[in-house]
Amino acid sequence: MAAGFFISKTLGIVSIMLGLGAVATIIALSVVYSQEKEKNVASSQPSITGTVTGITPATGITPATGTIPATGTTPATGTTPATGTTPATTAAPANPWNHYRLPQALTPEHYTVTLQPFLTPDASGLYIFKGNSTVRFSCQTATDLILIHSKQLNYTLQGGFLVSLQGVSGSSPPAIAQTWLETQTQYLVVQLQGQLQKGQSYELVSSFTGELADDLAGFYRSEYVEDGVSRVVATTQMQAPDARKAFPCFDEPAMKANFTVTLIHSPSHTALSNMPVQSSWQQTIDGTTWNVTEFEPTPKMSTYLLAFIVSQFQAVQEMQDNVLIRIWGRPKAIAEGQGDYALNVTGPILKFFESHYNTSYPLPKSDQVGLPDFNAGAMENWGLVTYRENSLLYDPLFSSIGNKERVVTVIAHELAHQWFGNLVTLRWWNDLWLNEGFASYVEYLGADSAEPSWHIKDLIVQSEMYRVMKVDALVSSHPLSFLESEINTPAQISEVFDAIAYSKGASVLRMLSEFLTEDSFKKGLQSYLHAFSYGNTVYDDLWTHLQKVVDEDKIQLPTTIKGIMDRWTLQMGFPMVTVDTKVGSISQRHFLLDNESIVQRPSAFNYTWIVPVTWTKQQDVAEQMYWLTDTSATNSSFVVTGSNWLLVNINVTGYFRVNYDQDNWDKLLNELNTNHQGIPVINRAQLIDDAFNLARAKHVNITLALRTTSYLNNEMEYLPWSAALDNLGYFRLMFDRSQVYGSMQKYIQKQVSPLFWHFGNVTSNWTRLPDGLMDQYSEINAVSTACSYEIPECEQLAAAFFNKWKQDPSNNPIPPNLRSSIYCSAAKTGSEADWDFLWQMFKNATVVAEADKLRLALACSKEPWILTRYLEYSLDPTKIRKQDAVSTINSIASNVVGQSLAWDFIRGNWKTLFTQYGGGSFSFSGLIQVVTQRFASEFELQQLEQFKADNADVGFGSGTRALEQALEKTKANIKWVAENKQTVLTWFETANS
Ligand SMILES: *[C@@H]1O[C@H](CO)[C@@H](O)[C@H](O)[C@H]1NC(C)=O
Ligand SMILES: *[C@@H]1O[C@H](CO)[C@@H](O)[C@H](O)[C@H]1NC(C)=O
Ligand SMILES: [Zn+2]
Repeated sequence: MAAGFFISKTLGIVSIMLGLGAVATIIALSVVYSQEKEKNVASSQPSITGTVTGITPATGITPATGTIPATGTTPATGTTPATGTTPATTAAPANPWNHYRLPQALTPEHYTVTLQPFLTPDASGLYIFKGNSTVRFSCQTATDLILIHSKQLNYTLQGGFLVSLQGVSGSSPPAIAQTWLETQTQYLVVQLQGQLQKGQSYELVSSFTGELADDLAGFYRSEYVEDGVSRVVATTQMQAPDARKAFPCFDEPAMKANFTVTLIHSPSHTALSNMPVQSSWQQTIDGTTWNVTEFEPTPKMSTYLLAFIVSQFQAVQEMQDNVLIRIWGRPKAIAEGQGDYALNVTGPILKFFESHYNTSYPLPKSDQVGLPDFNAGAMENWGLVTYRENSLLYDPLFSSIGNKERVVTVIAHELAHQWFGNLVTLRWWNDLWLNEGFASYVEYLGADSAEPSWHIKDLIVQSEMYRVMKVDALVSSHPLSFLESEINTPAQISEVFDAIAYSKGASVLRMLSEFLTEDSFKKGLQSYLHAFSYGNTVYDDLWTHLQKVVDEDKIQLPTTIKGIMDRWTLQMGFPMVTVDTKVGSISQRHFLLDNESIVQRPSAFNYTWIVPVTWTKQQDVAEQMYWLTDTSATNSSFVVTGSNWLLVNINVTGYFRVNYDQDNWDKLLNELNTNHQGIPVINRAQLIDDAFNLARAKHVNITLALRTTSYLNNEMEYLPWSAALDNLGYFRLMFDRSQVYGSMQKYIQKQVSPLFWHFGNVTSNWTRLPDGLMDQYSEINAVSTACSYEIPECEQLAAAFFNKWKQDPSNNPIPPNLRSSIYCSAAKTGSEADWDFLWQMFKNATVVAEADKLRLALACSKEPWILTRYLEYSLDPTKIRKQDAVSTINSIASNVVGQSLAWDFIRGNWKTLFTQYGGGSFSFSGLIQVVTQRFASEFELQQLEQFKADNADVGFGSGTRALEQALEKTKANIKWVAENKQTVLTWFETANS
């Protein structure tokens, strides 16, 4: 799944373009954590140490699990316990049905599932689906108990029981004693009068009704309006454990089986599932004509990868090597060609992965569908991948290069899973990091194959590594790997989908692939896939297959793959490697953003790592490799003399930060100032990002960090600028309401002006697109930064573009890449009429990418009353889609003028917010994080404490932990500002003079 992770990545880009470049990471990460959940709520102190980053990994977002005991209405089966009630449980649950994990006695073989979704509400206003299912399973150990997952389904009784049982090829099943539902553990329980026999197979038959709710989970409904007509789509999101909400199933990833799916739907709709259609016919049911579409049986697969969709979507399609590729979406979107880009890149990406894995695409077809309502970014259902619209559909007239990058990377991510994850599946969710980390790494390789001119692989460091390091440097982080026994409940399962799993997973796998070489890594990977096709694995299985390659190819390593990788997967965090070039010493220590924080979590390796240290002394000296296996060592290669410098972690392939002696830092800074191209571009970004983070942890002076930005007036590349804007974002948040801001603004204006003029030139006065992805991003940074720091020429440029558009609204002259910045500047500097024009354009927008840009830009106004009105709009679902409410409020809170208004609004409306938006995807943690991100005074701390006290009775729901973290963060901000304000002010003043 491309979980909230991807959502945040886009928002990060949107924020950059909004002129909030500086706070992009912070917002992005806040969103990550509002979408995702962090582990170890209980196991470690929530003491927040990364306060200075303004990022707090909000946890405690417990997804609603089994909250609606939708059963309990089924008449009693004649025996106690009655259905829907749980036999009295004791404190220590002893019964198998009180355990969240299935017993191993039964294994599913084949499911025959028929589902009939009703796309209009029933008499009581409820949207429902009807279904029946037959599962054939074999008995491994004799047992008188059947446990099968079931959630929120109402069953039709058969002979007084929820299900019936029949024999297969001569087996004769024992009689049922009783059946009931366990809502807590989400089981349907069948107690038998006798034993099922080892080696025999049986069939469990059920018939049921479920709600087709708009809850984005299981079998659910999505609605959209086209040409003024409201349309309903029935679709699915099974991952992690929600297939059980569509039909009763053994809902664990290792319980692979074949599935034969049939969908019953209106003849005006199309039905899709994982496999191609086998046959379809019309049938009259209750006086209505229905289409019955039966699909070919699937290969052996996990329940979480199933998908069913009934819609009026249209597709564009092509064949490649006998694989049918289709891109589906709203008919209008497809007619406008918005699926074309996805279609163009899917073929090359599939080809790339076939060769990368040395395995053909496992299915006869590949459908990809853009959905108007979708919780995650995308979901890799086998053969039927689902996406948020903005992650699949692309419109060259409206979408920016960031939208395009998102489409190609998300497609590559999901297609990578078709083999790694779907064909070979991790046994249990505790190893999720390998599945998601892997896809998050190879998505860059897949995207690179489709867009070879983009150099997209260079973005991994910024988009995965640096963003996750900010979280992984806190004591509240957690190791990549969990024990299988640690992850049991649906809430725990959902918590493993976090940035650590995705981005740290990607970073350490990239490191592994780099030190093995990509070819050897691929060889091991292919051998792993061939060995475990249609089966399940644990992460050690991959290490075993890589080790075989290491042994065969005689690759020199300090120890085994497992020996190296366990350090990175079993302990949280990462090292800071310090090199003293005067004496040639090298050492490592656990890097913590707050170096006073206390690590509570024990580590078998004492927080030391086996570190692949690449280094060079000058650009023309070939890259060298050194394995740091101890806490410290000395090596004469690290000694440098004269004006020579040492650079460590070339292209940042290693997952660690680097510190040097002051002399070497000075020489590197000198190189930046005199000949910055002497240092590779990724390492220029590294010097900036490492210096700022080391300064936060007090390993270097804050002035050293600021000095890494001095050369930026000569820098035209995206990555270093991006690192600087990211890090200066915190400074901006802390100071944009203080006297420091004046000097800071002048300084940034001075540094960014050359970049702004450079792009004005190379684009012939903003009329052409720069070449390449990085240059386009750099242009976007130039304009967003210049406008957001109010360089007059930028504001004039924005106003000119905007006025041209206003004169001819149906003909938008603004280049899509620059729209976010220009809309924002127009909303900021313009009149009420300008705001209203943007609002009107937002209401009229038919392309999501365009609507999102407008919606976020509307928050840039400087008029308090306009912002207050916009806050009111955000809670009116007729104006702002519910799924967009939080990000709208957050964008208002990110505006320095909107901050206090949003805070007042949230305080004033807490009860309403909580009661009306309390459930579902409304993220209180994201809200609390963003609205408090500037808090840095005693007065604000008091307000926050007051807020906590005043609403103690209402509660904070999923924001509880975020509130605690906001309190700690505010205290740390107060401290940071006290310690650094004067130094920073003086530094900016001096730099400006
Ligand atoms: C399941 O439903 C379909 C369609 O209504 C019907 O044809 C089939 O007989 C049902 N199967 C069972 C086992 O009830
Ligand atoms: C299931 O039964 C409960 C209790 O009678 C009822 O409230 C709910 O609406 C039913 N759901 C469906 C989908 O029929
Ligand atoms: Zn994924």
